[in-house]
Amino acid sequence: MEIYLSRALSVIVGEVLLSSLIMSEPAWDLPVLSCLNSFIFSLKKNLEEKVANPMDFLKHLKDPVGRTRSAVRAADYLETTLKLLKIKLQLSGKWRFNVTGDKRVTENLGLSALHTVFLREHNRLVSELRKLNPHWDGEKLYQESRKIVVAIIQIITYRDYLPLLLAEETSKWIPSYSGYNENVDPTVSNVFSLAFRFGHVSVRPFVSRLDDSFQPLGSFSHVPLHLAFCAPWRIIMEGGIDPLIRGMVVDHAKLMKQNQLLVEELQNHLFEQTEVMGLDLAALNMQRGRDHGLPGYNDWRRFCGLSQPRNIDEFSEVLGNSKLAKKFMELYGTPDNIDLWIGAVAEPFVPRGRVGPLLACIIGTQFRNLRDGDRFWWEKPGVFTPQQLHALRKISLSKVFCDNTHIKKIPRDVFKVNSYPENFVDCHEIDTLDLSPWKDEPESVTKGMQLSKVCQK
Ligand code: HEM
Repeated sequence: MEIYLSRALSVIVGEVLLSSLIMSEPAWDLPVLSCLNSFIFSLKKNLEEKVANPMDFLKHLKDPVGRTRSAVRAADYLETTLKLLKIKLQLSGKWRFNVTGDKRVTENLGLSALHTVFLREHNRLVSELRKLNPHWDGEKLYQESRKIVVAIIQIITYRDYLPLLLAEETSKWIPSYSGYNENVDPTVSNVFSLAFRFGHVSVRPFVSRLDDSFQPLGSFSHVPLHLAFCAPWRIIMEGGIDPLIRGMVVDHAKLMKQNQLLVEELQNHLFEQTEVMGLDLAALNMQRGRDHGLPGYNDWRRFCGLSQPRNIDEFSEVLGNSKLAKKFMELYGTPDNIDLWIGAVAEPFVPRGRVGPLLACIIGTQFRNLRDGDRFWWEKPGVFTPQQLHALRKISLSKVFCDNTHIKKIPRDVFKVNSYPENFVDCHEIDTLDLSPWKDEPESVTKGMQLSKVCQK
């Protein structure tokens, strides 16, 4: 009940504030109003009297809130607080909040930082397109910018990220684009939402933040993960998103190892600060698969055209590890019963990739469907002009970071492990998205030109 209510409220938050955000000049735009479980109550009076500073409000996001508060009361307080905050924001014109449509955005700091970057990119594009096309109205500016941001995310995901994950299996599961296929269902499958949690085993136990010389940022440099869940105040009070992005760019992900799948911070300390006790993300993942009635490990291996191990010897071969196979058999009796998430993340990687064959199949199939069944896929003929496509092909995540933070030096490929300063270049050395192909003559001007041509004849 509480979860659904909170979700609904995050939509309200979006409606209340988003319209005043998207078209405005870049300002303070961090996703702070999520993770409603940890919402604060003590400031209500101050806010009602309109004397509180939004900063005081944010400080209290630190405070864990007892779980006994009813969701209804939380909703009431939240609504009042938001209304007052909005007044406050409008009055000062200085503070701006970015609220996404999903409260989970503040679940970890990296996620909040990336959402913030792409919201800023949207606002940046709006400003640039408005300069190019002063005759466009707000709706047109919003939709065109949104379309470009979606294309940027598609390009980064398919061109730069997935090939690193699937390596030699990329073209097997995601062959070159051959156009929109109306028979493909692009919706996200139940099994994918479980399988893509493979990312949990690549999470490091610390959040790392670096200063503008890419050195540890004092006492904020190395925060244990369990102190950073649902803690967006850490972004606001501890240096913004730039140090986090620098940390993500330089640090490598945790390597999945068969004897070290999930770090202790996620296994026993998940949401420790906001829940009654630390939770276990691995257990949540497996329980979620059962809640959804998903078939077990061998059924998915069959679905993917892979062998279905029946005994310890066969399973030892699949895992390349007889000790681990024995442990699984002791726990589950047969590979048929193994929960998909744990079975899949335990498989050795495909050559040069970062997931095993079962995950390569499930992830690859989903991303192929998302692309082929998308009527607005960026490469689909007619979605962008040839000139716009040419411009879009030059985008990179590095440049998106440069354009939307104060970061001045960056590696060209932020997905690879990079050392400072060897692998870094100045931001201005990286290709910029040239927006001139989006310049559009107002209809009246175009008509006028055509008329004058006709008259000349
Ligand atoms: C600090 C890092 C992270 C934390 C604390 C975290 C935590 C969580 C939690 C608590 C859930 C919901 C569990 C449940 O109740 O079923 C979840 C779901 C999920 N996570 Fe993560 N996660 C993290 C990083 C990642 C990464 C790196 C990926 C993928 C690359 C990922 C992919 C997913 C997916 C796909 C879901 C299911 C979402 C859905 O079905 O709506 N997570 N995560």
